[in-house]
Amino acid sequence: MGRQGAKRRGTRQKGSLEPSGLVEVEESTAPRPEAKRARQGGSHLEEEAVKLGGSLQNPDALGCMPWNRWKEGAAVDPKQEHAELAEWKEKSFTNPLFEAYYQAQGIMAADELPTLLATLKRPLPVTFRVNPAHHAGASILRRLQKETLGALHRARPQLRAWRWRGQKLEFLAREVQHLPENCVVWGLGLDRAGFNVGRKQHPEMKELFEAVQHGMSVGAVVRQEVVSMLPVSVLRPLPGQRALDMFAAPGSKTAQLLEAIRPDSEAAGGLVVANDAGAEERIPLLRRALGARPVSEQAGLVITCAKGEQLPLMCFGGETRRFDRVLVDAPCSRDGTVRKAADVLRKWTPDPGTQLHAVQVELAMHSLRLLEVGGTMVYSTCSLNPVENEAVVASVLARAGPAVVLLDMGGRLGNLRTRPGLSHWRVGDAVPCTGMTGSTAKNKPLSAGSKMAMRWHDTFVRLRER
Ligand SMILES: C[S@@+](CC[C@H](N)C(=O)[O-])C[C@H]1O[C@@H](n2cnc3c(N)ncnc32)[C@H](O)[C@@H]1O
Repeated sequence: MGRQGAKRRGTRQKGSLEPSGLVEVEESTAPRPEAKRARQGGSHLEEEAVKLGGSLQNPDALGCMPWNRWKEGAAVDPKQEHAELAEWKEKSFTNPLFEAYYQAQGIMAADELPTLLATLKRPLPVTFRVNPAHHAGASILRRLQKETLGALHRARPQLRAWRWRGQKLEFLAREVQHLPENCVVWGLGLDRAGFNVGRKQHPEMKELFEAVQHGMSVGAVVRQEVVSMLPVSVLRPLPGQRALDMFAAPGSKTAQLLEAIRPDSEAAGGLVVANDAGAEERIPLLRRALGARPVSEQAGLVITCAKGEQLPLMCFGGETRRFDRVLVDAPCSRDGTVRKAADVLRKWTPDPGTQLHAVQVELAMHSLRLLEVGGTMVYSTCSLNPVENEAVVASVLARAGPAVVLLDMGGRLGNLRTRPGLSHWRVGDAVPCTGMTGSTAKNKPLSAGSKMAMRWHDTFVRLRER
């Protein structure tokens, strides 16, 4: 989201796994059709309604799952957890609540569900990005293309036959084509663990691994998921601009911002503020990741550790200035990360997403206040949930009024397949399906072995207040 003097119309589009909302703020005060649509779109989200409504809708038909003990704070033995996760991955790898919820939300057509579930089971291939602005970027890219990947190709026959936990090298390594311009991305047909094993068994893969490691150590290569590259790609930061990364750790998107803003370039004034509230673990991660960046980039980097909702206006060169670009990569329920964190699916319920909604709106609203008029802000999460995505953007548009417009991201996403964002969504919670309804279900203590089902509500319920 952002603030902008020019009036532009647009609709929101959604990426396949990491939806982003791109909004501008206008100075105009006249009501705009976009804001009106957004308000209508959020009609299921009456934030003032705190009454717990709704009733169990045919729990058995909606799909149940064993009650998750972790949610009730029961002591968890890590060894047992590990064994249970392995067994679940082997035998089940599904969660009926997740399926019921997302089918009801309409984030995909009914016949696409099997494809989604099959995709979630597939390990996430390693991808890495070459920093085009890095002084060694071009030579590293040449080395990758000509030598390292060339050696891999020559070793093709042996590597083709090689298998790692059922994974094979679908392709040895290739440039990912479906990305916006300026993103040179390479992918392997193997996940991280496979890549690690492969490098121990095949000298050609070891060479590639070492080339990537070397590139990472000098800030010329960043290992980053393709979907994680999209928010900054669509934000389109320009050399010399001031950008704020509100939730920055571990920092791969901050690195992208630095590459685009190029504090060392001729366009003076370029600056990136990377903020994160996680003082203990997250800030050290951020410092480590960004510490590898070239010194010239780091000259334009400021790391702050504050709660996003309390981040003050900042002074640059003695003047209080807002940011041209703000990235709100918000804390979320992470259910778009199942391919690298299967446990998220095993333990999935709709509650974290629903509870995070109000926090996300507050964080996005505060971020807007730090955005310059004429600036752009991207709101993104790694969740599939419209309550954390479309509903947040709609709520921000409704609150910010006519000065904010939603931008059309068409043309900014390369040839990725996209869909318009949802304009309606549902609010639900998970309840034990023991034949109870309404408040009875709510008050009954949950025990191991209970089954869970979806309960839908006509109004948004502040589940935190239950
Ligand atoms: C989704 S992660 C950000 C990922 C990061 N943008 C990247 O691409 O590497 C969310 C981050 O928000 C931080 N966070 C959570 N709540 C916050 C708050 N209220 N204010 C600031 N940071 C917060 C967490 O510590 C976490 O590092």
